[in-house]
Amino acid sequence: MNKRKIAVVFGGRSSEHDVSLMSAASVIRAINKERYELVYLGITRAGVWKRLVLPAGEGPAFAAEVLEKGTWQDYSEDFNMSDIVKVADFALPIIHGPYCEDGKLQGFFETVGIPYGGCGVLASALAMDKLAAKDVFEKVGFPICKHRALFKYKYDEDREKAEASVARELGYPCFVKPANMGSSVGITKAHDKKEFFRACDLAFKFDKRLIIEEAINAREVEAAVLGNEHPEAAVLGEIIPFGEFYTYESKYEDERSVLKIPAELSPELTEEIRELAVNAFRAIDGEGYARIDFFVEKGTDKVYINEINTLPGFTKISMFPMLWEAAGLSYPDTIERIIELGYERYYDQNNRQAML
Ligand SMILES: Nc1ncnc2c1ncn2[C@@H]1O[C@H](COP(=O)(O)OP(=O)(O)O)[C@@H](O)[C@H]1O
Ligand SMILES: [Mg+2]
Repeated sequence: MNKRKIAVVFGGRSSEHDVSLMSAASVIRAINKERYELVYLGITRAGVWKRLVLPAGEGPAFAAEVLEKGTWQDYSEDFNMSDIVKVADFALPIIHGPYCEDGKLQGFFETVGIPYGGCGVLASALAMDKLAAKDVFEKVGFPICKHRALFKYKYDEDREKAEASVARELGYPCFVKPANMGSSVGITKAHDKKEFFRACDLAFKFDKRLIIEEAINAREVEAAVLGNEHPEAAVLGEIIPFGEFYTYESKYEDERSVLKIPAELSPELTEEIRELAVNAFRAIDGEGYARIDFFVEKGTDKVYINEINTLPGFTKISMFPMLWEAAGLSYPDTIERIIELGYERYYDQNNRQAML
């Protein structure tokens, strides 16, 4: 059998560059080498595409190692991104944040006509934009927290007025977030007016549109969804962040945050969340896979959808693959399933186009 050539695409222009290198290294180590041959395509922090060329006699283990060490560029040559179709049969983006997870990279794959893993353009863009995603959730009647948008031009016009409406509508503490970002970058929990201004100044460094949310006193529960037409949710997990909320540091640098699998929830609540996860995935036109994050309010057990991550962390100890592992699908099999789903979407789309 001819092995399929899979281009693992990693790195990227976002602040989640390093996270992507760790996820991609895990995927490279675990992917089934009997079935797949790997091509390694890295995007530098400046957005330049490079191809990692292994020294003679070296294999995937070496690639994983240089990604983990952050020295992969020493072994890389310039790469013309549109040549991806010449070197690979399939693109597997293991990359996060703006430019990569938000539909732009997916649009490129669609344009050059290469099948790829994970959500398509619309789902990726909607999920990355916290305002747009909340609009969709609201429209279909999913439970979401109270929130409002704050645009930079409005804030610049009259920040006192902006603050007054936030204080009136949402109260303190509130969460101030860039609409498009990830990994908690640019997010602050503001407790008063002074902190609110500081939080907005920070968040506007990342985006010209912000979302301000009421703070929910909640447990954080995550669902891993896989599938195209018939998506399924795995076992649920709970994050117990160390500190006031799940910040960048508590996600990646602090070992004291805890992942609990399965989440300790009643069977009824578990079913409610799994069903909501699948429906939310469908509502944004999800394909392939995504991690759907929920808040479960302490005391009331009221469920809120927080956000959808269409390219969630993918190290062996990341929530998404661990939830599927707990549901009986091994880490390598989860990767294989994502590849199969990417091919399935590609053929479905081509068949539909052929009928036009
Ligand atoms: N409305 C909220 N109420 C309570 N905690 C929140 C709220 N919004 C965000 N958080 C906390 O901040 C973290 C990061 O926010 P999130 O919206 O998930 O952004 P990101 O896309 O960066 O992960 C959450 O995991 C949670 O700990
Ligand atoms: Mg999050």
